[in-house]
Amino acid sequence: MKKFLIIANWKLNGNLKFINKNINLMTKKIDNSLSFCNLSIAPPYVYINYINNFLKNTSISLTAQNVDIHLQGSFTGETSIKMLKDIGIKYVITGHSERRLFHNESNNLVSQKFILIKNNGLIPILCLGETEEQKKYNQTEKIFIQQINNIIKNSNINILNKTIIAYEPVWAIGSGKNANFSEIQKIILFIKKYISSLNKQVAKNIYFLYGGSVNYSNINTFFKKNIINGFLIGKASLEIENFIALVKKTEKIISLLNRS
Ligand code: PGA
Repeated sequence: MKKFLIIANWKLNGNLKFINKNINLMTKKIDNSLSFCNLSIAPPYVYINYINNFLKNTSISLTAQNVDIHLQGSFTGETSIKMLKDIGIKYVITGHSERRLFHNESNNLVSQKFILIKNNGLIPILCLGETEEQKKYNQTEKIFIQQINNIIKNSNINILNKTIIAYEPVWAIGSGKNANFSEIQKIILFIKKYISSLNKQVAKNIYFLYGGSVNYSNINTFFKKNIINGFLIGKASLEIENFIALVKKTEKIISLLNRS
């Protein structure tokens, strides 16, 4: 059985006070209570190893928000996959729309990062999302296929095996307006079908996350038919009491679904 994966993407938020409080509460109130969910935190880089020291003997893992394509050398300001591996980071996000938009990351760069992460034994989380405009002109499927093909072209289909794809509509991120279940289902099934046409087993081994204005009040709507295997959560992960309630609610829903 696949565990449901919840990733808290803190983006460029927080300080030592926030982190001490959040990690303390998460390890006390969530760590031992999860059987059906896995929890991972994606903090700003400057705090990642500090947090790592507190999470060493817990079930909570760490996710990096980004990585450079170089392994070492004169690349001021960057962090390499070897360093992330060195300190035991589990997942790395690539292709987040905020990096595509504010840091001009192209499909090609995202592909290079994806391949590097996977080939170094960490788990890449490939974010795919359409803008309002692309949605309006029915371009969603085309742009997703372009990104996936770019990765396969630069490696091969097996590079997607045991990786994660997060469907994150750009118009839903931080807007308070989430995609509804049938929209998410349509996209995830489309991507699955496409990858399955290339390799059935690889398609079966991919985790599909949804991200975009997920919060405590709307999570009930996402669990039908085992389509979504996890959430990537931004804003709602910054308020610790609500976030803990969200994780516990998810755990309860998944445990009931497993019993029925
Ligand atoms: P949001 O962000 O939950 O604030 O919409 C999601 C994300 O960008 O990963």
